[in-house]
Amino acid sequence: MKILFLDQSGKLGGAELSLADVALPYRDRCLIGLFADGDFRKLLERKKIPVQILTNNSINVKKNSNLLKSLASITTIIPLVIKVARLAKKYDLIYANTQKALVVGALASLISGRPLAYHLRDMLCSEHFSPINRFVAVTLANRFAALVIANSQATRSAFIEAGGKQEITQVVYNGFDATKYCDRSRERDTIRAKLGLQDKYIVGHFSRLAPWKGQHILIEALQYCPENVNAILVGDALFGEEEYVRQLRSQVKELKLEDRVHFLGFCLDVVPYMLASDLITHTSTAPEPFGRVIVEAMLCSRAVIGAKAGGVLELIEPNHTGMLVEPGNPQELADAIATCYHKPDFTKQMVEQARSYARSTFDLSQTNREIDSLLQFIYRGKDSPKIPNLLSQRTEN
Ligand code: UDP
Ligand code: GLC
Repeated sequence: MKILFLDQSGKLGGAELSLADVALPYRDRCLIGLFADGDFRKLLERKKIPVQILTNNSINVKKNSNLLKSLASITTIIPLVIKVARLAKKYDLIYANTQKALVVGALASLISGRPLAYHLRDMLCSEHFSPINRFVAVTLANRFAALVIANSQATRSAFIEAGGKQEITQVVYNGFDATKYCDRSRERDTIRAKLGLQDKYIVGHFSRLAPWKGQHILIEALQYCPENVNAILVGDALFGEEEYVRQLRSQVKELKLEDRVHFLGFCLDVVPYMLASDLITHTSTAPEPFGRVIVEAMLCSRAVIGAKAGGVLELIEPNHTGMLVEPGNPQELADAIATCYHKPDFTKQMVEQARSYARSTFDLSQTNREIDSLLQFIYRGKDSPKIPNLLSQRTEN
């Protein structure tokens, strides 16, 4: 089975990091076509996964774009569709990893006759997408995709609620190679010393800097936390959110937290910084589709506090594998941080439970087996039996 993967981004977001893991087993018989150049291409090259930049023109549609703006992008999309359709003839199926990849992949699938799989990694809800963008995504997926792989029950439900066909969707969680997250305790000490934070209680935040990722909530919470609590913000503005970065910096200044908030920028390997943290917070103010950082924190044996919405509800069992707080509530976040700070025994127990849960539930080889078996179904075509419900099989075992 030869696969043409499509992704709109050249940047290293969670969707792209996950795709690199999904595509690896097919690297001798696949191509990842990108709609932009960047560090993602470099990562794929290092992993020896074939990659090609398919266009130099960006598709100028944002998540909240209206109809006119979306239509204006047609001149960029048409030549790209023709190119992808030609390319697709050399492959057995097209696998769209992002929304714009779905648009291009759907039309290319129509022209080339190759089946289409769509990896749905977004919440198709009003907090994230304009009505027209939701309509386009659902209509194209219903009409052209033989399979929609949702990264959580939450994204699957939002898709169905927006009019998506239930029978073509299947939940497969992101998988992780647990050996990458094992305790590298010497690196913890090195990083803490490098940051001059040896004697501090470090709260880590690992995410691109974007308003809905809610770094401002953590900064605000910090003023209600014990003086010893510091925050490290690991990540950068990936999609033009420079104004938000300026706001974060002035918020830090206004609250006189310059000594306690540390902007570390994007790190290719987050593990040493997760290990350097005492606690990891997730603060998205809109429903998080899945939330890789939460599972990674668990695998690093770090306590995690998540914002109670979207896929996060499937990842954290409150007070058992982590803590949950209302999205956008700094006081509640500060209280949860204080609980972890003041109750090390409770926190340690949570961490141990979370680690074993994450290791058994989000195993990369299991995820890749599930995706492969789903793709085999659509590759084999019309006679194949109904797509099996993999997630329920996983929980029954
Ligand atoms: N990440 C990274 N370097 C950074 C910040 C984040 O590699 O400086 C990674 C992080 O470890 C996670 C991914 O980026 O694997 C973000 O995925 P997530 O699902 O948490 O959110 P997304 O940004 O995809 O919405
Ligand atoms: C997207 C989502 C994120 C998810 C990732 C991997 O980037 O925003 O929540 O974890 O895809 O599926």
